[in-house]
Amino acid sequence: MKYVIGNWKSNQNITESLIWLDSISALRLKYSPDTSVILCLPFTDIAAFNQHLSDLALPIITASQNVSHLPPGKHTGEITANMLAELVNYCLVGHSERRHEFKETSEVVAQKVRLLLENSITPIVCLDTPYMDEQIKALFNADIDVSRCFFVYEPISAIGTGKPIDPVDANHVAGQIAFLTDNSAPILYGGSVSQDNVTSFVSQSKIDGVLVGTDSLEPTLFAGIINSLS
Ligand code: PGA
Repeated sequence: MKYVIGNWKSNQNITESLIWLDSISALRLKYSPDTSVILCLPFTDIAAFNQHLSDLALPIITASQNVSHLPPGKHTGEITANMLAELVNYCLVGHSERRHEFKETSEVVAQKVRLLLENSITPIVCLDTPYMDEQIKALFNADIDVSRCFFVYEPISAIGTGKPIDPVDANHVAGQIAFLTDNSAPILYGGSVSQDNVTSFVSQSKIDGVLVGTDSLEPTLFAGIINSLS
């Protein structure tokens, strides 16, 4: 199975998200059964998006971009894994933007992963080389079954810059992640993936798919990436 995961970040209100869905539906893409398409949405879009997805019968799976590291309780404003369980099957955790802007640590990410798994949501754990070992160790320290996670290698130099790294180098790091996680989980690459370069990444032996930021916002570009894998 190959994976194309879109990440809208803090873009698109409900109205815009439904327009995006109508636009991609109008393209009448042929979705391959061997490619799983997952889209990480802002919390506020998920319910309406899910409803419209089922009206249109499109094989896109919705995901969250974040989750609270706390269980249900007195934590004003937090969105818990228990709340998300009724809405999504996947959730991003530890994206480098959250590490930098919100000071998320590897321990906090491990707490989020644990709560997601307890609620049957698959965590998509983002990694970069400076903290890759530390993050995977924090997962093992929290007794997490890493075979129930996805991992994404996202080199910071490549995120949002239009400058992806060399696919062979990405494959090398994906191999290191595979080694550290006992070859048990899907491993993806993220960072300036486009319809022009996606096949050079997914054709690598250790890379099972891609995480796409910028080009997931434009339906024709995202559709181009899905098409390239079919
Ligand atoms: P990008 O973002 O595709 O715009 O580089 C990737 C990401 O941050 O997940």
